Amino acid sequence: MANNRFIPFSRPWIDDTEIEAVSQVLASKWISTGNRVREFERAFAEYLGVKHAIAVSSCTAALHLSLVVAGIGSDDEVITTPYTFTATAEAIRYVGAKPVFVDIHPDTLNIDTSKIEQAITPRTKAILPVHIAGIPCDMNALQDISQRHNLTLIDDAAHAIPAEYRGQHIGSIGDLSAFSFYANKNLTTGEGGMITTNNDAFAEPLRTMRLHGIDKDAWARQSQRNIWHYDITTEGYKYNMTDIQAAMGLCQLMKLNKQHERRRNFAQIYQTELAKFPQISTPVAPDNAREHAWHLYIIQLHTGNRDEFVEALREANIECSVHYIPLHLFNFYQERYGYGVGDFRCAEAAFERVVSLPLHPGLTEDEIHIVINTIGNFLSQMD
Ligand SMILES: Cc1ncc(COP(=O)(O)O)c(C=O)c1O
Repeated sequence: MANNRFIPFSRPWIDDTEIEAVSQVLASKWISTGNRVREFERAFAEYLGVKHAIAVSSCTAALHLSLVVAGIGSDDEVITTPYTFTATAEAIRYVGAKPVFVDIHPDTLNIDTSKIEQAITPRTKAILPVHIAGIPCDMNALQDISQRHNLTLIDDAAHAIPAEYRGQHIGSIGDLSAFSFYANKNLTTGEGGMITTNNDAFAEPLRTMRLHGIDKDAWARQSQRNIWHYDITTEGYKYNMTDIQAAMGLCQLMKLNKQHERRRNFAQIYQTELAKFPQISTPVAPDNAREHAWHLYIIQLHTGNRDEFVEALREANIECSVHYIPLHLFNFYQERYGYGVGDFRCAEAAFERVVSLPLHPGLTEDEIHIVINTIGNFLSQMD
């Protein structure tokens, strides 16, 4: 039976609470960085169980500032995964360092920690893993390698709220963690990001660097009735978050556990039902050590043509996506760093097979079953 209902791949989970909170900020006339940002930072840090949260304008900015504060610069190397969005490696380029890719593990699609040490050179200064789709990387192994080689561990947690590793939230384990609040993320402020760290020596300069290196932001000056006097104490960037974004973020944080339950429930239905199709492998399931954030639900198709599969679902009004085209297959990364086809076989093999199915809290169980039935029909026609 044809599905007439359009099932979007992703949608932000917004209701009147966010609209009211943002309206209040607009009505207050204090619309850039102020008290709401501070409240959001406090609430976010408390939620994760981490000492510091520093709000910024995007995850890309969060990654960039993390690399700066960790002292990474030109001629340094940073180990990361090719299986990610370009922002991860782009931030490494911002500081003049080289992204050194290490292949992924075929099951989790996260960086293969057993291959990291072979890639370490005297120039390596940091490891930048990504918790793909929201499944935590092996943080024990990453911490062990970082400590033994004196490297900073900066994790790209764009997909990973509220993922947990051995009972601790992602964002409270690495030296520095970078979150994204982009429109499709589990917690969204439209655009936005957060850096979290337990290290005071990182937190203090980060708060200053994100707004031009100025020692007191406008809100602090206004509160002290000192509107114009300030010093510039460190190198600066224009990466601050606004109170409009933070007001929305506070509402989203209140709903985070509820949205997570919905995602987890939908993912569980997919896991159970899709396991019945031998032509598909479902994502690695959470276990005692790992709570999955279920940002993306990525299946791997072991039969037929992936693009035809995506097209068949599109014709049935179901929107899917593909995460990711490995970075070493893009022209820029080949021309700038000399990467080429064949360099990272697991990433390439996964890319050929992956499909991200609709997953967001605004879906219904009915819609999840429509997706599953449509997949079943497609696969039965191939037999
Ligand atoms: C893995 C990963 N890292 C970084 C980013 C960049 O996030 P932002 O758009 O907040 O800069 C994204 C965005 O989708 C992402 O998926």
